[in-house]
Amino acid sequence: MRTTMKIPITKPYFDAEERESIVKPLDTGWIVQGPYVAEFQERFAAYAGASHAVATSNCTTALHLSLLALGIGKGDTVVVPSFTYVATANAVEAVGAKPVFCDVDLRTFCMDVNELERILSDDKVRTVKAVMPVNQFGLCADLVKIRELADHYEIKMIEDCACSFGGFLDGRHSGTFGHAGCFSFHPRKAITTGEGGMVITDDADVVRSVSSLRDHGASRSDRERHGQKGSFFLPEFNVVGYNFRMTDFQGALGVSQMKKAEMLLEGRRAVAARYDEALREFTWLTPPLVPEKHVSGYQSYVCLFASPEDLSRLTRDRIDSLHEKRNAFMSFLEERGVSTRQGTHAVHTLGYYRDTYGLSDEDYLMSYAADRLSVAFPLYFGMTDEEFAYVIDAIREGGQR
Ligand SMILES: Cc1ncc(COP(=O)(O)O)c(C=O)c1O
Repeated sequence: MRTTMKIPITKPYFDAEERESIVKPLDTGWIVQGPYVAEFQERFAAYAGASHAVATSNCTTALHLSLLALGIGKGDTVVVPSFTYVATANAVEAVGAKPVFCDVDLRTFCMDVNELERILSDDKVRTVKAVMPVNQFGLCADLVKIRELADHYEIKMIEDCACSFGGFLDGRHSGTFGHAGCFSFHPRKAITTGEGGMVITDDADVVRSVSSLRDHGASRSDRERHGQKGSFFLPEFNVVGYNFRMTDFQGALGVSQMKKAEMLLEGRRAVAARYDEALREFTWLTPPLVPEKHVSGYQSYVCLFASPEDLSRLTRDRIDSLHEKRNAFMSFLEERGVSTRQGTHAVHTLGYYRDTYGLSDEDYLMSYAADRLSVAFPLYFGMTDEEFAYVIDAIREGGQR
């Protein structure tokens, strides 16, 4: 009888270091935004090569505060890719601005810069005040070109780096090309703190603003106040803020994950390289592209359920018929105990955005195709040879049906 394994789409990696670190805040007495959050920020900034890092409660709040810090709000529009997790667009809505969608390049799943250029040059009344490229699944978007366009049109650039820890372009880490870069430490990411986010920036004003806004708009943090004379004076509150702080338990977890970041990333890249090799035999699948000068952090390994030939002649009907087959394939893998997911979703097809902005599926056809045809395979640090072979066998069998 066939043995059935259970292979998750991903799983976080913790060892004794995390187990020890997570209880340390109980001893320091700093439970919220204390010394471990500070150390996590320092380590993160050093790793990414940014001047500053400011921790938040998650990536959505990091995006929200970065937009506010860069002066984006009501009456403004922000260009976001149409193939991304809904949180990218939701952060724009949260500050009272409106998203303008930009289609993606199907081979990289990142914003299509030619489309972006068209949108910016068409924006005669200049409502677009920012662009938010997403470094999708660990791969940097065309960030140098996007920054050039942002500078040319005098708009802000906020990188959504939720998935791009360990993603480099020309030796520079994701998040360092824009005015700010925002990361997620949700368990599906390469390093995790449970929930958690980080803003990196070289702009001291953004640091001041995000630090205050995450802390109810306070002029100084509790930790700063405690170390100073006159600690009994409450801070000033001159702006409306939020409670988007990270706890010190999460900070401590982040510190221990940072210590093994390189090992975790290399482990993910090694699994991805094995997929690249093993999937060559399946011509009905298109594996992810990592263009020259890019290094991916492989938050996910996302293929398209389509051959290169299919991709060269994509129509709505063709996408829908391949979509049916992809779903049958994914159901087969699920029965075999192998988890898969679609990469992410086409935000313009989701109820709120479709209805509010009167959008139809075909408006951003590549994003629609990415939504309907993408399939992410299991990838995590420590995936065994046996698990990997089991996944490949299931893919082979699923593809033959
Ligand atoms: C592209 C993108 N942006 C933002 C987020 C939101 O991150 P968080 O869950 O940390 O708020 C995610 C989450 O997966 C994401 O994939």
